[in-house]
This record gives sequence, C-alpha cells and structure tokens, in this order.
Amino acid sequence: MIKHFKLLYVIFAIKSILYIYSLKTLLMIYITRREHFNAAHRLFRSDYSDEQNLQVFGKCSNPNWHGHNYTLFVTVSGEVDAATGFLVNLKDLSVIIDQNVIEKLDHRNINLEVDFMKGKLASTENLAIGIWNEVVSPIKALGATLHCIKLYETENNFVEYFGG
Ligand code: NI
Repeated sequence: MIKHFKLLYVIFAIKSILYIYSLKTLLMIYITRREHFNAAHRLFRSDYSDEQNLQVFGKCSNPNWHGHNYTLFVTVSGEVDAATGFLVNLKDLSVIIDQNVIEKLDHRNINLEVDFMKGKLASTENLAIGIWNEVVSPIKALGATLHCIKLYETENNFVEYFGG
C-alpha cells in the first residue's frame, strides 16, 4: 500500500514539473532588431599568392579592398513582461547593438580597424561569430537571451549563428 502511494507521488511530481515546463515554453517569445552597416574588407591569406587568393576567395580577395552593405538581424528570446507587454525594450536592444557593433564596424575596414576581428579572416561567418561575442553579455544583462545573429553580406548571401 505504501509503495503504491509512493508511486502516485512520483507520478504527480513528474506531471507537475512537465506542466510548469510547458507553461514556461508557452511564454517564450522571440524578437528581432534589424541594423545596417557599411564596411570594407579583403578575404585573403598572407601565405597565399594573389593568384591563390583569387582562386579561393574570388572577388573578395581584391588587394585594394572593397565594401559591402551589411544587414544585421539580432534575435533575442525570453518571456513577455506582464507589466509592459515587452520581451525587451527594442530601444535598449538597439543601443546595445549600436554601441558594441555598429560603431565599431560602420564605415570601417574590418581587417584593419575592428578590435574583435583582429587576426581573423574577415568572412561573414567570422563576423557573425564576432558580433555574437560582442552582444551576448549585454543582452543577458538586459534580461533576454541572444538567440541568433543573422548577417547578410549581399542580398543573396547570409549566415546565421546560434552560438557555440
Ligand atoms: Ni567581400
């Protein structure tokens, strides 16, 4: 008989945990802020000849640099604040992106001037990872979780990074 009650108790506890978890999942929401920046770069390896760089990196290996109009989407997740109806205030999110990313990249040379890209190939992939690392902590401090960095280098080419 006691064994039977213990089993019921365990089932009740598991069902309660699943119910609380499902409520939490239901309240989870995602919100995205879009930003733009223009920046110059060159994709190359110094241990390759110009010909090898052209073969591997194409036009982006042009020794005299070139620019792109980048579009950045920063998606964060969290729960809706009952008082405001917001996940986060988008103005606050915009300020974080502006201070930590846009000011460092806009109208800059990614290879030469951007601290978090020092020593890295200036590819869209590496840039998206670098941007993630710049904003992940401030977004956490804002009370949200960074979900995705989506970065368009051209209209047709973009990368998405969801963290390590
Ligand atoms: Ni390029």
